[in-house]
Amino acid sequence: MSNKNHPSGASQLGGADLFDLEIIKKYDKAGPRYTSYPTAPMFHAGIGADDYAATLKRVATDDAPLSLYIHIPFCNTVCYYCGCNKIVTKQYDRATPYLGLLLKEIDHVADTMGDTKRLVTQLHFGGGTPTFMNNDQMRTIMAKLRERFHFVAKDEGEFSIEIDPRECDENTVRVLQEIGLNRMSMGVQDFDPIVQKAVNRIQGKDETLRVLNEARAHGFESMNIDLMYGLPHQTVETFDTTLDTIIEFSPDRIALFNYAHLPHMFMPQRRINEASLPSAQEKLNILEHSINKLLDAGYVFIGMDHFAKPEDELTIAQQQGKLYRNFQGYSTQADCDLIGLGVTSIGYVGGGFFQNRKEMDAYTEAVEQGEFPVFRGYILSEEDHLRRQVIMRLMCDFSLEYSQFETDFGIVFRDHFADGLADLKEMEADHLVELRDDGLTVLPAGRLLIRNIAMVFDEYLQKKKEGTSFSKVI
Ligand SMILES: C[S@@+](CC[C@H](N)C(=O)[O-])C[C@H]1O[C@@H](n2cnc3c(N)ncnc32)[C@H](O)[C@@H]1O
Ligand code: SF4
Repeated sequence: MSNKNHPSGASQLGGADLFDLEIIKKYDKAGPRYTSYPTAPMFHAGIGADDYAATLKRVATDDAPLSLYIHIPFCNTVCYYCGCNKIVTKQYDRATPYLGLLLKEIDHVADTMGDTKRLVTQLHFGGGTPTFMNNDQMRTIMAKLRERFHFVAKDEGEFSIEIDPRECDENTVRVLQEIGLNRMSMGVQDFDPIVQKAVNRIQGKDETLRVLNEARAHGFESMNIDLMYGLPHQTVETFDTTLDTIIEFSPDRIALFNYAHLPHMFMPQRRINEASLPSAQEKLNILEHSINKLLDAGYVFIGMDHFAKPEDELTIAQQQGKLYRNFQGYSTQADCDLIGLGVTSIGYVGGGFFQNRKEMDAYTEAVEQGEFPVFRGYILSEEDHLRRQVIMRLMCDFSLEYSQFETDFGIVFRDHFADGLADLKEMEADHLVELRDDGLTVLPAGRLLIRNIAMVFDEYLQKKKEGTSFSKVI
């Protein structure tokens, strides 16, 4: 099944190859999304501001490119389903002190790195709603970043922003383009008015299409739209109408997320009437129908919730074995140091994770006192790096060639991972994975269950056996 020039083989697959109902039901359990390895529950308070400062100094003269993540936490209204780190407020003047803190934090990082010459090839504004910042504030942040870091030319990098179309007029799109952004991701979830009312997110088709068209007119590439299945009142029929509209809009990428309903962790979700949520069977029906429909419309299943057009750079990178995964999902930019800026943000620098304070007061206090607001993190061991690479390649390529890891890490793969490979035997019998002497290939029916396959290589999950704070894999 494996095609060496085509690690994913994805474009050859139809929905029936990917979706096997009985198998999905059998393996449906909670699991991490592996936007990081080790996952966030492993972060601990033994790592703090001093470790971060020392790490930034140590990596300042490295050659590899840099990635920047800027978190803007504010949202004007709350979407009840939301599991993101956000602060809901209608007071737009709260953006002003936050801007000051961000500028200070940027200066602190750049000073500590001694005005590093490392090139920034990737930048992402996430939220919350990044455009809660007004146009001048966005200009100010970018001007500061450009003053303190060296950016590659716009067409050589991935410079992106998450957009809520309700908070974005034409002027905003123009300014975002002017300051050097070239990728946009828009939240939609579902266009059905009953669903939108139940989740408190009223967003018209016209305003979404308007932003998409304006972004295209301003040269934005690779427009992404986020959808979600499993929301209240959704049925195959209602979601089909949403899919029709989205396919007509023809975004380059589509993320189809499984609604993670964890009301014990996310307060606003308690406002969702659980009786109105689709049954497990209906959710699977919606997923199956959506996969079929998107593949029929010409999209390629990249993996873990993501679809892209065949000519999109994500699809091409996957075909070339050059796809990566980071906190924002899939990326074409090589695995590099990521500097997180803003409240709650997580960075990955010099082989360690560093997370900023989650509460605005604590973040503010630290930054105002000239300290890094880092409150926890994790330094990867050699073993962690090995497992991180294994999980990354699995998620991106749907296959592993053992020799690569044996050369890079001086192990004998089949001995080192004997337990994990033994755990895969049942999945092999269920035709989810093909185990060979020199590698493994995830078979079509295993692609939707890639998290389950990755989980056997997660040392900490294997020790704990069950992760309670994770959402279901499907
Ligand atoms: C960090 S949010 C920010 C997007 C932006 N603020 C907006 O609303 O358009 C990015 C995406 O996460 C997804 N998301 C949010 N809450 C989720 C949940 N509970 N389960 C699954 N996906 C979720 C949604 O698809 C959302 O568009
Ligand atoms: S989905 Fe977006 S706009 Fe809605 S609450 Fe979450 S971050 Fe804010």
